[in-house]
Amino acid sequence: MGPGLAPLARGPLFGAALESAGLERLAEARRASVDLALVDVEEHEPQALTAALDALAASGQAPPVLLVGARLPAGLVRAAMRLQSDVLEPPYSDDQVREAVFGLLDAAGAEATAAAESTSRCWSVVGAVGGAGATTLAIEFAALLAARANRDHAVCLIDLHLADGAAAAYLGAAAAMGLAEFGPAAERMDAALLAAFTTPIAKGLDLLACPRDPLAFEQISKDAVLRILEIACEAYEFVIIDMPRHRRPWTLEVLAGSDEIFVVSELTVPALLAARALAGEIEAGLPVGVRTRIVLNRLASRMFGPAPSMAEAERALERKAEAGISSDWEAAAASVNLGGPISQHRPKSKIVRDVAGVVDRLLGVQTPAARRSGWRPRRAA
Ligand SMILES: Nc1ncnc2c1ncn2[C@@H]1O[C@H](COP(=O)(O)OP(=O)(O)OP(=O)(O)O)[C@@H](O)[C@H]1O
Ligand SMILES: [Mg+2]
Repeated sequence: MGPGLAPLARGPLFGAALESAGLERLAEARRASVDLALVDVEEHEPQALTAALDALAASGQAPPVLLVGARLPAGLVRAAMRLQSDVLEPPYSDDQVREAVFGLLDAAGAEATAAAESTSRCWSVVGAVGGAGATTLAIEFAALLAARANRDHAVCLIDLHLADGAAAAYLGAAAAMGLAEFGPAAERMDAALLAAFTTPIAKGLDLLACPRDPLAFEQISKDAVLRILEIACEAYEFVIIDMPRHRRPWTLEVLAGSDEIFVVSELTVPALLAARALAGEIEAGLPVGVRTRIVLNRLASRMFGPAPSMAEAERALERKAEAGISSDWEAAAASVNLGGPISQHRPKSKIVRDVAGVVDRLLGVQTPAARRSGWRPRRAA
């Protein structure tokens, strides 16, 4: 970033796949598609650059950053320290450039190997208002990730609406987590025991959900809920949580352990106001820098009356929405009536396409349209 770095492409970085870009690309760079960001500090406004580095750090998936410059403001240094970063001070030799670049790439490679060995990802989905589509989106995320993983026990969908969850019914499956049996077993829970409470849905996809029980929330302790998640994250590559909208004693801890938090809204004024409030409440209760992602569900043409446009919705939300999911009542209704994900019963639905777009973006998979010439696709995420 910064035209002054262009000569490096013909010098020490010759042969690398390079893209020159502005600050807006820096904030959204992810290590799955970008190996390293090289930034000429002197060619950017310090505050804007600091803000971009902060946004990058908040993503939790930042590529390493090499800053080139002699006089770095303190705020910028502080932002860089939250990232895997190094500083190259001009004048520098070709060898110094290579040394700094390879030092960062080696460190990032070592970290990625360690992460691949131990971590799974956890995404939580919560509706801003009743019926916004949280359960539908949680199911589609889970089904899509399972289909892509194509191996057993890749994804666990957990319905934390303990009293009256809908995920099992939507999937045409029986909920197997009876709390009368689960409660006493919670303390000695391990992956093998957890398996007894899951319902297999499809290759790679298991469901953890409770049968209806009006007293369920009173029957299970916070420790037991957190233990379920801990074991599930050890046993599965992906854990998708269908979160209840109302605050429970364990809500913030569950969300604090989630890699992504989706607040699902529809395009009505009350839902957008509720989404803005809920996103703010969640963020206020979590460590600084954790951001929720607002997904606008059931985008339709305006033929059904005065609905806000995406731009109007973002003004009401006072932030950018992560994505919009098209409306397709036929596909949604057919799937819940047949029992199963929309991606199974109506694979061509726009809902499936839009959900895939969100997943691709978050996992850093480049779609052919977004791939620029000279970009090198990395191993699939
Ligand atoms: N994009 C969509 N297009 C059309 N219908 C949809 C879409 N998303 C969800 N639906 C339908 O809207 C209804 C509500 O969806 P869903 O149950 O997923 O919402 P929810 O937020 O989980 O609700 P609750 O507050 O009851 O938990 C369902 O009938 C579902 O099939
Ligand atoms: Mg629901």
